[in-house]
Amino acid sequence: MASVSSSSLASFLLFLCLLYFSSFFNILDAKHGVANRHNRQHQHQHTHPHTHYHPLNPRLYRAFLALQAWKRVIYSDPKNFTHNWVGHSVCNYTGVYCAPAPDDPKLTVVAGIDLNFADMAGFLPEEFGLLSDLALLHLNSNRFCGILPTTLSNLTLLYELDLSNNRFVGTFPMVVLSLCSLKYLDIRFNEFEGPLPPQLFNKSFDAVFVNNNWFTSAIPSNLGQSSASVLVFANNKFGGCVPESIVNLADTLEELVLINISLSGCLPQEVGFLYKLRVFDVGFNNIVGPIPYSLAGLSHLEQLNLGHNMMSGMVPAGICVLPNLKNFTFSYNFFCEEEGICQNLTSKGIVFDDRRNCLPEKPLQRSQKECNHVLDHPVDCLELCCPAIGSNVTTATGSVAIPPVSIPAAMPISSPLSAPSYSYP
Ligand SMILES: *[C@@H]1O[C@H](CO)[C@@H](O)[C@H](O)[C@H]1NC(C)=O
Ligand SMILES: *[C@@H]1O[C@H](CO)[C@@H](O)[C@H](O)[C@H]1NC(C)=O
Ligand SMILES: *[C@@H]1O[C@H](CO)[C@@H](O)[C@H](O)[C@H]1NC(C)=O
Ligand SMILES: *[C@@H]1O[C@H](CO)[C@@H](O)[C@H](O)[C@H]1NC(C)=O
Ligand SMILES: *[C@@H]1O[C@H](CO)[C@@H](O)[C@H](O)[C@H]1NC(C)=O
Ligand SMILES: *[C@@H]1O[C@H](CO)[C@@H](O)[C@H](O)[C@H]1NC(C)=O
Ligand SMILES: *[C@@H]1O[C@H](CO)[C@@H](O)[C@H](O)[C@H]1NC(C)=O
Ligand SMILES: *[C@@H]1O[C@H](CO)[C@@H](O)[C@H](O)[C@H]1NC(C)=O
Repeated sequence: MASVSSSSLASFLLFLCLLYFSSFFNILDAKHGVANRHNRQHQHQHTHPHTHYHPLNPRLYRAFLALQAWKRVIYSDPKNFTHNWVGHSVCNYTGVYCAPAPDDPKLTVVAGIDLNFADMAGFLPEEFGLLSDLALLHLNSNRFCGILPTTLSNLTLLYELDLSNNRFVGTFPMVVLSLCSLKYLDIRFNEFEGPLPPQLFNKSFDAVFVNNNWFTSAIPSNLGQSSASVLVFANNKFGGCVPESIVNLADTLEELVLINISLSGCLPQEVGFLYKLRVFDVGFNNIVGPIPYSLAGLSHLEQLNLGHNMMSGMVPAGICVLPNLKNFTFSYNFFCEEEGICQNLTSKGIVFDDRRNCLPEKPLQRSQKECNHVLDHPVDCLELCCPAIGSNVTTATGSVAIPPVSIPAAMPISSPLSAPSYSYP
């Protein structure tokens, strides 16, 4: 299981708190399901004692216009989230959260919208640009479709954008790259297609989830420019290799999930320099060659999935003795030897899967014929050249026919808070 752990969420939230503690306290409370409506109302009334006569400041009024325009293009709301989106009291609307404006604490503004799991259908209208005080937009698990309005670039305070599990289409939504405060970008489980833009990796995003879309083309070679701690690309059709520039992520990267993205070539030694890595998942690709010895340096590594590739050679003991390793999956490859303690991972309390390799002493291995075919044609990683982005992506998979595999489609498992928790069944 590859998962974005709760500790990374916790540190992320802590970061968010420190940044915006005073202003967005109420939103964070709401995220944790302890929204104190009384407090919120109190604050509101305190700020606007004559609510009855002058209910809206100009910023709330713009939010009102935006929310009403949005409501008009919400064509289905089976859980009745928007039934109380009437009148000027936008801070009372379900899913809408107000807070003091960071630049003017005396003003109440709409700082968050959280409509996770509302199952609403419709689209995001141009008027979204009027929500310029928004710091948080969570629309996880709805049926919003179409493309993102370009006016979204007006949301200069937007910090968290979760559009996951909707029906957005088109090429990568470039408008998100203009959001200068954005740290958390989650567009997984939509129908975005085409290449990822290289500019995605020179933004200071902390977490990027683009998994389960229809993205194509190799991962841009400037991946190393990123400063993210979590990168999840899984279940797209990227192709290409793990870029060596990944080494530049050493000081930040903790979770790298590249499952089922048509990767080829060998794993670069550079992966082993990502000393903060806790999750490394490259399952269901076409990776060849040996496990780089450098992986033995990943002292924080907990989850290592190399399963369903075409890797060969020895499973090095250096990996099996990693102090934090909890799950080591290397089934469905062509490994022919397990060094030392790797032969008995049970004794180390490590969950492992070594099935369908070429391990002579182990049960449930490949046939001799299948193994010979690959082992007779050793891979030279130095000679395998990795296609650069934009070029023809050739898979360096050799000629062995691998039986087709079927694993269940991954489904998003998101808490109502749309925490970046994610797992593959
Ligand atoms: C171990 O990792 C594999 C591959 O990611 C996963 O399929 C399996 O469920 C995990 N097992 C446990 C017990 O976490
Ligand atoms: C939606 O909520 C309103 C107000 O509580 C109620 O009158 C209406 O019947 C609800 N509709 C559905 C479909 O639940
Ligand atoms: C907001 O809703 C509460 C009840 O939930 C109500 O007492 C209050 O009057 C509403 N505020 C406004 C301005 O409508
Ligand atoms: C962008 O936000 C400003 C206020 O910050 C507002 O005046 C303007 O109308 C917004 N632009 C769009 C296109 O919504
Ligand atoms: C970001 O990347 C784009 C495309 O690679 C480049 O044009 C731009 O100059 C880069 N910006 C920074 C700040 O590195
Ligand atoms: C891999 O991703 C493709 C979409 O790119 C999907 O159709 C397929 O089911 C996925 N395979 C696995 C094993 O998850
Ligand atoms: C693996 O180690 C355990 C405990 O250290 C031991 O009981 C078991 O016999 C070993 N299994 C093999 C196959 O060596
Ligand atoms: C891709 O490869 C094909 C055949 O090998 C060739 O005709 C085509 O020009 C190549 N395309 C690019 C962009 O290199």
